[in-house]
Amino acid sequence: MTQLQKFFSQVDQNEQHYISRLAEAVAIPSISGDPSHRQDVVRMGEYLQQELKRLGASVETRHPGTQDWNGTGRILTLPPVILATIGNDPAKKTVLVYGHYDVQPALKEDGWTTDPFTLVVDDAQDRLIGRGSTDDKGPILGWINVVEAHKQLNLDLPVNLKFCLEGMEESGSEGLEKIIYDEAQNYFKDVSAVCISDNYWLGTDKPCLTYGLRGCVYYHLTLSGPAADLHSGVFGGTVHEPLIDLVHLLSKLVDSNGKILIPGIYDKVLPITEKERATYQDLSFSLQDLHNSVGNVINLHSDVESTLQHRWRYPSLSLHGIEGAFYNPGDKTVLPAKVTGKFSIRTVPDMNNEEITRLVKEYVASEFKKLGSKNTCTVELTHGGDHWLASPDHWNYVAASNAVEDVFGVKPDLTREGCSIPITLTFQEALQKNVLLLPMGRSDDGAHSINEKLNKSNFIKGTKLLGAYLYQVANARI
Ligand code: BES
Ligand code: ZN
Repeated sequence: MTQLQKFFSQVDQNEQHYISRLAEAVAIPSISGDPSHRQDVVRMGEYLQQELKRLGASVETRHPGTQDWNGTGRILTLPPVILATIGNDPAKKTVLVYGHYDVQPALKEDGWTTDPFTLVVDDAQDRLIGRGSTDDKGPILGWINVVEAHKQLNLDLPVNLKFCLEGMEESGSEGLEKIIYDEAQNYFKDVSAVCISDNYWLGTDKPCLTYGLRGCVYYHLTLSGPAADLHSGVFGGTVHEPLIDLVHLLSKLVDSNGKILIPGIYDKVLPITEKERATYQDLSFSLQDLHNSVGNVINLHSDVESTLQHRWRYPSLSLHGIEGAFYNPGDKTVLPAKVTGKFSIRTVPDMNNEEITRLVKEYVASEFKKLGSKNTCTVELTHGGDHWLASPDHWNYVAASNAVEDVFGVKPDLTREGCSIPITLTFQEALQKNVLLLPMGRSDDGAHSINEKLNKSNFIKGTKLLGAYLYQVANARI
């Protein structure tokens, strides 16, 4: 039996143990966006440190400092960045693994069938259900599984492994960029390539490798006027209403077909080439996958190619919510004093964040002027992350592609994605190394949504894939 085969069979034997560990991790509600859960984020970090230490890693932490929560003046300590090393054999390559141990909020009332922070093992449907199962606790534990299986077998890993695990990804990775630049010539010095498992297959049956992500710029558009909420019967018709102004302005940002209405926004978007067009052929994705994922037939584009192009290589603008507006059930005749509309733009090559922010601010100001309102209008950029594109011809991708064949017996699709992982580009630029996205979960996992799940088979085969990838990297010719 080869070392890889021994590893595979060890993974199979450990299945129950891996699931129990995932259950422990899911039980820690490490929601980075909710200050009342900050201690849980820290606790989740401690849990991972303890597991890594137990497996013989040398573990360090870096502290990104503090955060002014939502600009409210409430100062919160940011959770630590975990740096862990296993092996430092100069004869071996070094793979850097990134993952995030924070999760999105989840409440049973949102529509979850089961408690979001209790892992449910649904054997009949091969599902492990719980917040963070696929995004991103399952994949982080996948790496830990790999290390543990080798320790159990008394085998050395084929490469040196370095971890960089953060607890603020879902809230814009505050403080991480500086740490990576500071450590580029220190902790990260010997890294040969980077692997991030924090995305999903394109569909539900075929693995993929991902070489591009969109960026994300997030804005708060605030309208204020009266000193306090007012009675609409007494003041309606006599004052400028912030929410009326806000709704007018939000309606000017994007039309119902997804076209962004901000002048100049598309100017820097790279035109599509014939070579690029060909990459949209033969992918394991259909409009039915889209319909299944969203649970309805509400597609903007009528074919697969243009659907994926609008997700991967064109910008989009989404409206997320209005803070300060009345949203409880029932009728309340209030006139809110201050309302904040939240929207974000997913950016693509070669859009530039500063330039986009300038265009957004100028446009909103000019549209607000047209309203002739005496209210106050401000636009604030609350976080921004850049788009990222890597070379899928690099040996790092070849190694991952071979590993997919080792485990799944098929060649993976090469994909880009519409989502953002702000730190991906930072790794590429600060370390000048190739970055690969190697997903564990499937497109229908429901990351950020209710009933988030990871298929048990994805967890187990995904663990094998991460291990096989390390063997392929070890053998890769640079
Ligand atoms: N895991 C996702 C990113 C992702 C999702 C990549 C699907 C590829 C495919 C990550 O946790 C995430 O949701 N990121 C945020 C970042 C934002 C806060 C800047 C996102 O994309 O909304
Ligand atoms: Zn994630």
